[in-house]
Amino acid sequence: MPNSQQSLFNFDNTDENLRFKTLEEVKKVCNYCYKCDLSKTRTNVVFGEGVFSSKIMLIGEGPGQNEDETGKPFVGKAGKFLDKFLETQDISREKNIYICNIVKCRPPENRVPTNEEMAACREYLDAQIQLMRPKIIILCGSTAVKAMLGVKSGITKIRGQWFEGPFDAKMMPLLHPSYLLRNQSKAVDSPQWLTLQDIQKIKKELDSFN
Ligand code: URA
Repeated sequence: MPNSQQSLFNFDNTDENLRFKTLEEVKKVCNYCYKCDLSKTRTNVVFGEGVFSSKIMLIGEGPGQNEDETGKPFVGKAGKFLDKFLETQDISREKNIYICNIVKCRPPENRVPTNEEMAACREYLDAQIQLMRPKIIILCGSTAVKAMLGVKSGITKIRGQWFEGPFDAKMMPLLHPSYLLRNQSKAVDSPQWLTLQDIQKIKKELDSFN
């Protein structure tokens, strides 16, 4: 059973009055978004990438330099490391996962996005969730956890646990790949080892839908 927490989701729209009807529509509006100052320094909006009809969505913090340059999420060193972890369980953006971020534009110097920036961008993420209706949402790193669960700290304590998500999705906090890169040990109970266990748990859940 997922843990309960106060609901942070605001999905009271019915299908009939959704602001956006398709992902392409959301993307088009997002590409011309100037609601916050991140729009002034971005090269590209990083909307999301992967299989939109799949059961899993992964939400990270926000684009870094490589993502800003390419317009694709998680394509730098951390992203490649994340891909490797997911691929151990046959999960990839080519096959069966959709990957996006809390904010769609790069925060300068890769700083953590502010609450105002996250709030300005939230309608795009909400629309992605609303249209995709994933069964599993991976919250990758503490910023995604804070935005989706409302808890500020302690991802190391809650990683690997299931939480209730929107539209009956199950959400699981996962350690961010940048943190894993800084902690290279693969020993039992190390961050990398724990993350592999978490991804195996996610895969088991995913398989239960097939
Ligand atoms: N880190 C993130 O959280 N998201 C990206 O897209 C890249 C790095």
